Amino acid sequence: MPLIIISTLSCEDESVENNDIYISFEKPSNFPELTYDFSENEFTQQKFELGKRLFYDGKLSSDGSVSCGSCHNQSNAFTHHGHDISDGVNGVFGTRNTQPLQNLAFMKDFTWDGAIRHLDLQPIIPIESEVEMNETIDNVLLKLQNDVSYVTQFNESFEKKSFEPHIISLRTLTQSLSQFMNALVSANSRYDKYVRGEVMEIPYSEEEKEGLSIFNNKCAQCHSGDLFTDQTYRNNGLALSSKFPDELGRGRVTGEDLGGNAPDYYKFKVPSLRNIWVTFPYMHDGRLATIDDVLDHYDTGVQDTPNLDPILKQNEILGISLSNEDKRLLKFFLKSLTDNTFITDERFAED
Ligand code: HEC
Ligand code: HEC
Repeated sequence: MPLIIISTLSCEDESVENNDIYISFEKPSNFPELTYDFSENEFTQQKFELGKRLFYDGKLSSDGSVSCGSCHNQSNAFTHHGHDISDGVNGVFGTRNTQPLQNLAFMKDFTWDGAIRHLDLQPIIPIESEVEMNETIDNVLLKLQNDVSYVTQFNESFEKKSFEPHIISLRTLTQSLSQFMNALVSANSRYDKYVRGEVMEIPYSEEEKEGLSIFNNKCAQCHSGDLFTDQTYRNNGLALSSKFPDELGRGRVTGEDLGGNAPDYYKFKVPSLRNIWVTFPYMHDGRLATIDDVLDHYDTGVQDTPNLDPILKQNEILGISLSNEDKRLLKFFLKSLTDNTFITDERFAED
């Protein structure tokens, strides 16, 4: 796919100027190919703004109290601050840690187990889940159709298809949410500036560089490339959960084997480590509170569970041996993945 640069700012367009937001979608030069097909859903300023309004609107939940943004907070790279597992309408808890939302236009599939194959399909799950927004899509569409300002905004953003009874449809709802989420590109950390050779006020330090090199030796087989994930599903040796004994991870998607031996049991998506400093707590169920806990896990905590990734059991030795100095340097590197521009970008904030 060619480099996509979609710039929708037009100086003559007053409505854009008044809103004081303009957005262009640009593929960072150190990123891999896009996975989202923009030819099916052209990226426009209007769709971005509509998607953002929907993302922050409690109307998408049954009692009006929960929006997408309630669980996906910008200052934490759109994850849920301080929650191990996320609570939705009526404070009901789910079983998984909220994922950050970033660089989704480059992801092949979504959620911790990859059950969702297209970004446009993702919003249906939280809206209809009783532990999240506890609403039905039909009701959401009705509520939006009864709001004149939404009808106007949808009409400005989309063309109605002949088979659709109303401009506000499942398609237009999800396609606009996707354009807000696609715009959430995070690629301006100190690490990015360093690898792109950009001038930095404070140059990438020796400690950051040494941390990067330890990372490349010990972690990058799974957290690979500039998205810091090879987008596969693996078991990194967490103890089986007594709190959520039914959690099968990727096994839920690829098939269950009642004997407990299905090849994908207890595997989870290798997460991106971008903005990792602000997305605590960690792992699919948020069981590890700090980066120190994570590094200790790899060093001494890896369990020999079914389907443990062979990389974490080489020569019959469990885990990845890390000295205190390794850990210290790794932390410098991991911190350099924080993109302050992204987590403070006003274009993504609730109005
Ligand atoms: C109650 C908290 C909650 C709400 C509300 C919520 N989410 Fe999420 N979100 C989560 C959790 C938890 C996950 C991980 C789900 C899993 O692995 O099963 C997630 C995962 C995602 C992902 C996948 C990210 C990835 O990298 O694969 C996307 C996209 C997403 N949510 C978008 C949305 C949108 C859009 C809305 C609003 C319509 C929304 N979320 C509302 C908690 C929430
Ligand atoms: C064998 C593949 C593999 C290797 C090697 C590996 N990881 Fe992971 N990592 C994973 C998987 C899979 C998860 C998600 C596991 C889960 O939630 O159940 C993960 C989770 C994490 C998380 C939590 C991310 C989040 O959003 O919650 C951090 C931080 C992390 N790894 C850092 C590292 C570091 C640092 C190293 C090297 C010392 C490393 N990993 C080596 C596969 C790996």
